[in-house]
Amino acid sequence: MAETPRLIAASTDLEDSGRGLRFQIDYRGQSAPAFAVRYRGVVFGYLNRCRHVPIELDWNEAQFFGLGGHDLVCSTHGAVYSASSGSCLGGPCNGLPLVRLLLEERDNAIYYMGFADER
Ligand code: FES
Repeated sequence: MAETPRLIAASTDLEDSGRGLRFQIDYRGQSAPAFAVRYRGVVFGYLNRCRHVPIELDWNEAQFFGLGGHDLVCSTHGAVYSASSGSCLGGPCNGLPLVRLLLEERDNAIYYMGFADER
């Protein structure tokens, strides 16, 4: 669902396969935690809500990548999600993907544009 673009960070705030950025979004009428990460140079964002149990994924504050820096891993029971699509790759997410956010990077800044329809 598209929204008015909202500045969430400077591009330099996100390192490739590094710490993410946490921020709040309005998701279906409620404030909800969300995050952005950079993977292979591209910024991706998701609702910070595991598809196994609807809780936040972070290992430590804003740390979402598993060892190796390729996949996003839920800290609670180890569900594994693709950093570039949010698809469930293994573990107790049972094939359900993360809810994807629409982010845009331009002029050295990252903007939140809304969220994609749930799959
Ligand atoms: S809550 Fe994320 S894997 Fe169980």
